[in-house]
Amino acid sequence: MATPYGSLTVNILKGALVKVIGFPTGRSTIGVKQSEGNKVRLTVKTHLTAKPSDGIIAKVMEVANEKCKAGVPVQFFTVQRNEAEALYGECMYDKFQVPEEIKTLTVLYMDGYNLNCVRPDVEYPNNTNAISEIKLLKMKFQTSKQQLEVQVVYTPNTSNSVPIVKASEAASENTNAKPTKEAIEPLISSTGMDMTAASTAPPAPSSDGKKQIVTPWVVSSDDGVDYDKLIRDYGSKPLSDELIQRMEKIIGQPAHPWIKRGIYFSHRDLNLMLDLYEKGTKFYLYTGRGPSSEALHLGHLLPFMFTKWLQDVFKCPLVIQLTDDEKFLWKDLALDECHRLGFENTKDIIAMGFDMKKTFIFSDLNYIQHLYPTVLEIQKRVTFNQARAIFGFTDSDNIGKQAFPAIQAAPSFSRAFKIPLKGLANMPCLIPCAIDQDPYFRMTRDVAPRMKLHKPALIHCKFFPALQGQNTKMSASAQNTAVYCTDTAKQIKKKINKHAFSGGQDTMEKQRELGANLEVDIPYQWLRFFLMDEDRLQEIATKYSSGEMLTGEVKKELIGVLQELVKNHQEKRAAVTDEMVQEFMRIRELEWES
Ligand code: TYM
Repeated sequence: MATPYGSLTVNILKGALVKVIGFPTGRSTIGVKQSEGNKVRLTVKTHLTAKPSDGIIAKVMEVANEKCKAGVPVQFFTVQRNEAEALYGECMYDKFQVPEEIKTLTVLYMDGYNLNCVRPDVEYPNNTNAISEIKLLKMKFQTSKQQLEVQVVYTPNTSNSVPIVKASEAASENTNAKPTKEAIEPLISSTGMDMTAASTAPPAPSSDGKKQIVTPWVVSSDDGVDYDKLIRDYGSKPLSDELIQRMEKIIGQPAHPWIKRGIYFSHRDLNLMLDLYEKGTKFYLYTGRGPSSEALHLGHLLPFMFTKWLQDVFKCPLVIQLTDDEKFLWKDLALDECHRLGFENTKDIIAMGFDMKKTFIFSDLNYIQHLYPTVLEIQKRVTFNQARAIFGFTDSDNIGKQAFPAIQAAPSFSRAFKIPLKGLANMPCLIPCAIDQDPYFRMTRDVAPRMKLHKPALIHCKFFPALQGQNTKMSASAQNTAVYCTDTAKQIKKKINKHAFSGGQDTMEKQRELGANLEVDIPYQWLRFFLMDEDRLQEIATKYSSGEMLTGEVKKELIGVLQELVKNHQEKRAAVTDEMVQEFMRIRELEWES
């Protein structure tokens, strides 16, 4: 029952599934069936833990149909098996094994979209134009096996005459070079179309019924944020020991304690950034702040302190966006006020010690005309449906909100910094931030290849928890949930003694007997962020969890650490002059060693 059109449909559909859902292309095709009436059924093994939403499957069909319309050449080549495996790993194989004795492979290739080892005698149209439409018939998901079965019906395009070729013959006539390893990379490391993998919109309860909402605007969970689930849902990658060791080797020094302690816990394409860096390609750093309050809380400091470390070790340029426009659109604040707060917050940011020659800080209101061409290119490539799926916009959200994500996305592309980044049109970018900002960059990473630009890489941190416990992000408006950079030593002491949630026992006797639950204990958790002395932290962990230390003693230790940190910060901030702010914000060429 197999027809050339059906065989091509299988490959187009597989490419779309990998692109949108983001499972590895290699070894993931489990079953293919063509049947009467131009029907095709494809079964793939995914990493999904729940049935993909109708929106995701609709996106798969959209991508597949775009491929048909785009008229992509279907190429074939032959390659020695050992050479192919060395170059492409397993990514051209389906689940079933190609017999050992076959030493030469015939491979089908569609430009960065699909690479598949095929039987030499099978026939295919040599262009995706041969299919005019692919329609979804059925979708089934087997949770226990993580298998997705998609049944479609295709319509051959009869209005054009795309030649039908036999794979082996087309391969022998093909004079094009084999695809490079780099061209195949997106197929190997596909993390899916970042936008659809996890809509942050409706707060889907997890399988155990607990609710978890993580968006740029809301973070809440019934029982502490489940970061493993976030990695699974968002399709990012855990920061593995192997990657950390590789990073240490490249930078020639230990990784930041926050990386070692799992506070920076997830990434997208950090490995690719390290590859480029090793080959001598510099990347730039991009991070930001939404100026909605006079004072930053300790959680806000995290990405900036970490970015300063990244700038020092990689000696790279840095751009920092102040989204005064975002805060105006989302909060009940006047535009002038958001703009002013941006300047105030800039002083805190400068106090982190960024290298002025390598750092450009900009307010969206001031810099928008430089961002605008890139913003437009992005806006044109994201539909309202997609934005709604990613950000959860509703019909009653103002249209400014709906247009804003492209403004946070634009600085991920060096073309938005013609002067600061010396006109480098496609310099790779690494974004350090807490995981709440990821939705913006899932969208950005989706449009990047369509703009023929590098996808930005990301390194994500967990949330510095509120004083009241693990399950909320601190709020700039609820004073007693956080310690602020403007707090006095006395305020810090009072807040911690009075509000920090303790994992210790109710009475001294019980504490001595049972010890504290460190997982939920805020004084200990906060020390994990800001006590840099590893040996002392270990000692506290051992003594506090065994009952040798009491909550009061741990709180005292934390108060000391934070009073010192905040005092240092306040001194450094006081030394930041208006001239320094102006210089950091002046549009100028940045300097960095190449
Ligand atoms: P904003 O001002 O909400 O937060 C600034 C940075 O701090 C992180 N953050 C936290 N990190 C750890 N623990 C917390 N409790 C915590 N709360 C906030 C945020 O993830 C962010 O990295 N829209 C953005 C501004 C922005 C931006 C960017 C941020 C524009 N471009 C690029 C990161 C990267 C905002 O309102 O951030």
